[in-house]
Amino acid sequence: MCGIIGFIGEDNASDILIKGLKALEYRGYDSSGVALGDDGKPKIIKSAGRISVLEEKLASASLPVFHRGIAHTRWATHGGVSDLNSHPHSSDSLSLVHNGIIENYYELESMLRSEGYTFSSETDTEAALMLIDYEYRRLHDPEKAIFKAISGIRGSFAFAIIFNDVKEKIYAVRRQSPLIAAHTNKGSFIASDVTALLPYTKDIYRPEDDVLIILSKDKTEFKNKNGDAVYPISEHVDWNEEEAQKGGFPHFMLKEISEIPDSVRKTVSSYLADGIPYFDAASLKEDNVLNIGRIHVSACGTAMHAGLIGKRLIEELAHIPVNIETASEFRCRSQILDKRDLMIVLSQSGETADTLSSLAYAKERGVNTLAIVNVFGSSIARSADDVIYTKAGPEIAVASTKAYTVQCAVLALIALHLARIKKRMTADEVRTHTILLSSSLPSAIEKVISESDGIKDAANDICNAEHLFFIGRGSDSDVCAEGSLKLKEISYIHSEAYPAGELKHGTISLISDGIPVIACACNEDTCDKMISSIREVRSRGARVTVLTTNKLAKSHAFPCDRIITVDDEGGPYTFLTAASAMQLLAYHASAKKGLDVDKPRNLAKSVTVE
Ligand code: F6R
Repeated sequence: MCGIIGFIGEDNASDILIKGLKALEYRGYDSSGVALGDDGKPKIIKSAGRISVLEEKLASASLPVFHRGIAHTRWATHGGVSDLNSHPHSSDSLSLVHNGIIENYYELESMLRSEGYTFSSETDTEAALMLIDYEYRRLHDPEKAIFKAISGIRGSFAFAIIFNDVKEKIYAVRRQSPLIAAHTNKGSFIASDVTALLPYTKDIYRPEDDVLIILSKDKTEFKNKNGDAVYPISEHVDWNEEEAQKGGFPHFMLKEISEIPDSVRKTVSSYLADGIPYFDAASLKEDNVLNIGRIHVSACGTAMHAGLIGKRLIEELAHIPVNIETASEFRCRSQILDKRDLMIVLSQSGETADTLSSLAYAKERGVNTLAIVNVFGSSIARSADDVIYTKAGPEIAVASTKAYTVQCAVLALIALHLARIKKRMTADEVRTHTILLSSSLPSAIEKVISESDGIKDAANDICNAEHLFFIGRGSDSDVCAEGSLKLKEISYIHSEAYPAGELKHGTISLISDGIPVIACACNEDTCDKMISSIREVRSRGARVTVLTTNKLAKSHAFPCDRIITVDDEGGPYTFLTAASAMQLLAYHASAKKGLDVDKPRNLAKSVTVE
């Protein structure tokens, strides 16, 4: 969702901004723009559509080399996708880019209209722009004007601002929207996330809400609303630029699926001591664990699907009841929360507004919070009482793959940890499981990836379907939810995931001749029942692809049209091997249809609005 990059320094700002925008593309956008200039009113070039369109416009504008600029990728919220609504926006005294939502824009606009302001776009951003302009005219001081303006703004924002009559500076400020800053010998940078800065530095600052960032060629300063200098701690990011590039793969998604085995190994081994899960998080210390009444899990989309797996494992292994709720709904009803409860939130980006707000809801009620997050120092990581990082490295494709698998792996480790403390499993039993997670499961996933021809053929079969069903039982059913989401979001095939036994209670009426059904049957205990469910849909004309293990394929006669087998080395975690097969299925279906696999329509990687 909206990306910001700003630079002031020695080099050609235009090159740095365009490279930065491309690195931020994955966040999702529908238009882009730049404001470039070292003095006076900057030149603004912006356009609906891909960054390549902006590049063409820039090339034909033949601008001189500038050393200062701000740039933006917009993901439309207020106002349609158009050149006019694209950022930067400008007034007579400043130009600005914005990520977030100005909730009181209507109120602000009315006030500003009464002061003679007019508005040319449909965006909420223009209200903030004109408010800063208004305060600047009154106060004649950019810093005071920004602080005064943001004190009147409700909502979330990250702004980067150039004042026409303030040479050699860029101002920036954030509240609840991500924005990082960095200073190198080339100059000063701001960006929405670290991927845009990796070519220049791995040392970054994450200013708190409402801290003003003042960028100049030779320094980056931070000030609070009293004008006092503040000093955010510099963070070193251990991601590298290559990780954020395709590295010979046709798409980031395929590259990221191929990284799953190593991501799982790295994540699991980071939290093991002598083969036993070990966490620094205070909420997972023995005394606190014994005191936990109930666990709440909240997340969105794919992370929510990982949460389903977590619920199953924690309840099964540790016998602690788990309430799971999609984050956008969590605060829509009155939750029964107790101070003895533990709230776990899951997020790849660590910036998802819905997840942040469910986290805040739990914190406000005195519940201990634990975040499982992939992006170091992100808002969710900083807001929660405790954080456990997944070690998936940067995930660029909008469709989440490796982050899901490592989230499930961490939840499995937490379940084992809780089970051992609650004496439901011995240390040796736990070790058997961690060997599966750290070694056997990643090897099984490696085989799925290297022997994926069968999955490709199945993808060719389904890629022209309009509707499709995923069915499974137990953990296979949770994985189906994720397989279905993956297929929907990148191949645009409507699909539904159903617990196989539930289908006959209504939805089976949608099964007709030729409808593809993917039946996931990786669990021996439920295999016979799955075969009955497959018979039910086949007898109504469904074309069934069974996804099962090599072993079950030998011991059971699956009535089906196609069978995909995976290795069961991962033991009780084999559902995660099946999940990778489903991710590949969705990938190949989308690639076969020639769609934009990494940047599916309407979607954003980091969903920073509620
Ligand atoms: C689907 C997908 C989304 C995200 C969701 C939460 O492939 O990527 O459903 O999982 O928007 O995002 P994070 O994990 O960043 O909180």
